[in-house]
Amino acid sequence: MFRKNNSACLLLRFRITTATAAASILGMLVVCAICTNHAQAQQSFVANEDESKVPKYELPPLFDGQLAESGDFAGGWSLRRKQLLELFAEQMYGTQPTGEFKVTCKKFEEGPSVGGKARRQQWRVTISRGANSLQVALLVFTPASATEPVPTFLGLNFNGNHTVAADPEIEITSAWCRDNASIGVVDHRASEQGRGTSQGRWPVELIVDAGFGVATAYYGELDPDFDDGFENGVHALFPEHRTSAELQNSWGSIAGWAWGLSRLLDGMEQDVNVVDAHRVVVIGHSRLGKTSLWAGATDTRFAAVISNDSGCGGAALSRRAFGETVGRINTSFPHWFCGNFKRYNLNEGELPIDQHQLISLMAPRPVYVASASEDLWADPRGEFLSAKIASTVYQRLGSSGLQLAEFPAPQTASVGVVSYHLREGKHDINAWDWQNYLKFAHQIVN
Ligand code: GCU
Repeated sequence: MFRKNNSACLLLRFRITTATAAASILGMLVVCAICTNHAQAQQSFVANEDESKVPKYELPPLFDGQLAESGDFAGGWSLRRKQLLELFAEQMYGTQPTGEFKVTCKKFEEGPSVGGKARRQQWRVTISRGANSLQVALLVFTPASATEPVPTFLGLNFNGNHTVAADPEIEITSAWCRDNASIGVVDHRASEQGRGTSQGRWPVELIVDAGFGVATAYYGELDPDFDDGFENGVHALFPEHRTSAELQNSWGSIAGWAWGLSRLLDGMEQDVNVVDAHRVVVIGHSRLGKTSLWAGATDTRFAAVISNDSGCGGAALSRRAFGETVGRINTSFPHWFCGNFKRYNLNEGELPIDQHQLISLMAPRPVYVASASEDLWADPRGEFLSAKIASTVYQRLGSSGLQLAEFPAPQTASVGVVSYHLREGKHDINAWDWQNYLKFAHQIVN
């Protein structure tokens, strides 16, 4: 009996050892393959900006024939949606942590702004977990004349809250910032010189005049945008959830920023009573547009979602490999996505998902995908196609899809439940974009 047990034990140990060895060899092979792809992607990358050179591709389906035929599309779609969400988390953005945390929100400043048209509030949102915590400053502008909570845009900003408006009361972030002498960032510290330098991107007056609020926080306070091995920002609150050799599916920075947007929404729900937390439109430009899409997908409390020039890893179809590609983005910004996403460097065809499916995860909530005509790096046509193709899900859910049949001429905006516009000009977000976003946001008001 003893011997038998012993040999069973040995056998088991042998099996485990063999399995472990096989797993590490497999792991090494995967790592080698990733490194090779990585190195190839890094070497002499030339973006394709020629439509005739877009490779032939087949997109993974939004849903299968069985669901298409079933009498209960909405019921079937909620299961399919869950499956897609899991695939995006596992293979691309990384899973969010499941551990408990607490959010508290304290107002530290309030006053008039925009020549008396707006009420400005600044809140300290604290996300804590055990002995660790992270603080984020949330800047909120609402119309001064508002007598009740207003529908509000919520988006992260690139350079600190003080850059959003030329308002001397706005606190200057003490968090890490990317060096940029033109906006007064030296030794990674922001300064007075940056005040108001992003105001073109945040037309507060236009927004409050239209009866909306706008809330923003500096993305670097949620997670500094450099490859730090996920030692700081929101990642530091969940050390057990960090990427390791075995765990290649845990959250990257985009997922961290998106999770942070949800925590800001928690704070708004709890305390910021000048905003209507049931009518919050999540918005973002560029990497923060990728972020707003992932926030909208993972948190259905966001009433509507806007992605401005989000490009690769945002609204653009990865399989088109037009402009920035999966290999290129993973090489330049290895911390944005999860480890698994690197498997698809120069290998987009193997992705089990593509970005039209990400847009479909917003359904039936209003979604706006926007591009700029000269922003070929972000693949405007690929962004349009995602919104167009995802429209099927909206239609099947009894809503309406994108009203544009074809990729439009510059300065065309089609505003509806699924919206798209192509602004003339470069990679940016400006007043013309916002004018359309305000029209779009009116549909969540009534
Ligand atoms: C780079 C990057 C894009 C990103 C952009 C931004 O250009 O390649 O993917 O959208 O930065 O965030 O400004």
